[in-house]
Amino acid sequence: MVSKFEQYFLKTYKKYNITFVSGKGKYLYDVNGKKYLDFFSGLSVTNLGHCDKNLIKVLKKQIDTLWHCSNLYYSQPQVVLAKEIIKRTFPSKVFFSNSGAEANECAIKLARKYGSKTGRYEIITFENSFHGRTLATLTATAQDKFHKGFGPLPKGFKYAKFNNISSVKRLINKNTVAVMLEPIQGEGGVIPADKNFLCELHKLCDKHDILLIFDEIQTGFGRTGKLFAFQHYDVKPDVITLAKSVANGIPLGVTVVDKKYEDVFNYGDHGSTFGGNLLACVVAAEVIKMIDNKTFLEKVQDVGQYFYQCLCKLKDEYDFIKDVRGIGLMLGVELTFPARNIVEECLKHGLVINVTQEKVLRFLPPLIITKNDVDTAIKILVKVFSKCKK
Ligand SMILES: Cc1ncc(COP(=O)(O)O)c(C=O)c1O
Repeated sequence: MVSKFEQYFLKTYKKYNITFVSGKGKYLYDVNGKKYLDFFSGLSVTNLGHCDKNLIKVLKKQIDTLWHCSNLYYSQPQVVLAKEIIKRTFPSKVFFSNSGAEANECAIKLARKYGSKTGRYEIITFENSFHGRTLATLTATAQDKFHKGFGPLPKGFKYAKFNNISSVKRLINKNTVAVMLEPIQGEGGVIPADKNFLCELHKLCDKHDILLIFDEIQTGFGRTGKLFAFQHYDVKPDVITLAKSVANGIPLGVTVVDKKYEDVFNYGDHGSTFGGNLLACVVAAEVIKMIDNKTFLEKVQDVGQYFYQCLCKLKDEYDFIKDVRGIGLMLGVELTFPARNIVEECLKHGLVINVTQEKVLRFLPPLIITKNDVDTAIKILVKVFSKCKK
């Protein structure tokens, strides 16, 4: 498999030497039949676990009905899904695409078009952010390592310090039209925004007629124990972007735009052949139904809190753990050394986890895990950690 892959594919992902062939609920199975507890969810995508029976049912029904019809025509599954999303956010309108980068690209274009009336075009994003890999979203992603070799990058992006309102104030000028950020930076190392910072940022944006765009691509759809992370904060963004877990693994991106901006785009300003694919839309509508109930979300908060406490106990035990942070079931453990080996050792013990920013172990388990699953994961971590120097 390894040599075939290298023969056929461009070098983009540095892979772990495992071939997964099937999944059920919180478990993944490799080509040798080995079982793994999945604490990564394909990067916060399969929030309801693998091959959920309700999702299979709606998907199969739609497969037998209609897969795709051009966005030149109306379609019922898109309307049903849009209504469910709008009902749960704020009075808004939506655009459907296929991925996170596309959902953000749409938000960036919308902000630019809005600003074009007054000659404004600059968008402020934040150091260590991650917004995607298209040229515009890559430029919005304020991390040098992703920019190298891809210049000249599009103009009009400025980078502020996360959780630092003065640095935003310093960058605002007559050209500023939007501020875009993740309420919890994911790729940046699982760093939650401070409540006060977001509150001040919201006020600042209101004062200067600046669009506040929340990239909830990783934090959305129950990951933090609320349907959307912005609901933890007393702040309402103007635009939310969603993808990853929206359709539990069927590609879908969503840009939710406050009604105030409903006339910014005109016919022909934006589009996507596959955006709002019918298979994705029916699955997403079912995902919302399953996640958005009080009991389910309270359980995510409860299990998340328990997991966080267990990780904090490990911090007391092992000197090389610098920090434990996150909200709900989006948790990070910062180590004093690069952690790829830890991830590999966990895989050997049948636990799938991730590392970001080299030293931050990232946990994004499916939202269906229990405290027992947390105990299993912690036992494996202890086995792996005990082999490292204290
Ligand atoms: C916060 C955030 N925004 C955008 C993206 C890009 O999404 P996609 O890979 O679907 O284009 C990601 C992907 O990791 C992300 O975490």
